[in-house]
Amino acid sequence: MSIVEKAVEKLKTLQPELLASPSVEAVAPHSASTIERLSGRARTEQATESAPLWHVDQMALERAGLLPAGNEANDRLADELRRVKRPLMDNAIGNGTKVLAHAGRIVVTSAVPGEGKTFTALNLALSLARELDFEVLLVDGDIPKSHITRVLGLSGRPGLMDVLVDERRHPAEVIVRTDVPNLLVVPVGERHPLTAELFGSLRMEYVLEELGGRNLHRLVVFDSSPLLATSESQVLASHMGQVVVVIAAGHTGQHAVNSALQSLNDSQYVGLILNMSCLPASENHYDNYYGLYSRGRFAGEA
Ligand SMILES: Nc1ncnc2c1ncn2[C@@H]1O[C@H](COP(=O)(O)OP(=O)(O)OP(=O)(O)O)[C@@H](O)[C@H]1O
Ligand SMILES: [Mg+2]
Repeated sequence: MSIVEKAVEKLKTLQPELLASPSVEAVAPHSASTIERLSGRARTEQATESAPLWHVDQMALERAGLLPAGNEANDRLADELRRVKRPLMDNAIGNGTKVLAHAGRIVVTSAVPGEGKTFTALNLALSLARELDFEVLLVDGDIPKSHITRVLGLSGRPGLMDVLVDERRHPAEVIVRTDVPNLLVVPVGERHPLTAELFGSLRMEYVLEELGGRNLHRLVVFDSSPLLATSESQVLASHMGQVVVVIAAGHTGQHAVNSALQSLNDSQYVGLILNMSCLPASENHYDNYYGLYSRGRFAGEA
């Protein structure tokens, strides 16, 4: 019997006493919903855990340009991502320079399209999944493009939008466990015309809470649409403790970057990544690499 199931059983045995005591009458309805919530989560998490692992086709990702091809490019990216992920992990476990609300929620976004968000979100999630102390849930939060969903072959499967729309569904239902150790994925699901409103709803906060799971060291990484292109991306970012803004070197103007940063909240950790910097062809035949432009900013910092 899992810890959650044991807790549920314990709450059930306590329930009659709680109801009998006039002094705690007001608490009883809350306890009942807690029971339902814990049982629902236990059932759905058990179902997810027993489902077959989803195969992540690394060759397909490489062909789609979302994984670097070749050892040299791989090594360099792995190294850059180590520097990117360190402050994110420190913040998540409370070892950062500031205590953040929802530090385990990380969104990868950008000012405008095509700056490398999906590439970064996927590779960051893979890199974090290699850490011994973390489990990573990669959520496709780019509803219009659903790039992660498509490239992982998860189109047509229920996902984020379905659990937002249908309150009878438990969020854990749409988590897909993969054959990459410690990597879980949530696809987009069925698109909805009111995405921004759904992202801004109380249900969204509940869904995010449940997707965070009972594991304190689960990091939830979102791919997103660009901050200046859709209102839903700003609403999505507002739920996050940590925001990674990808900036394509030589592509995005300073004005656009500033407007994107202004849409974020001062209480969040914001890390900037300068992507697609050009190196001489002799040094790198992809002509792209990651450079960590800044380790992040907090309220009051430049
Ligand atoms: N650091 C990188 N190294 C190699 N290729 C990269 C890198 N960053 C991005 N790319 C390539 O650039 C293209 C755009 O990247 P990506 O799809 O991640 O951008 P995006 O910001 O998610 O775009 P959109 O706004 O359309 O969702 C892709 O073809 C990807 O393969
Ligand atoms: Mg994308």
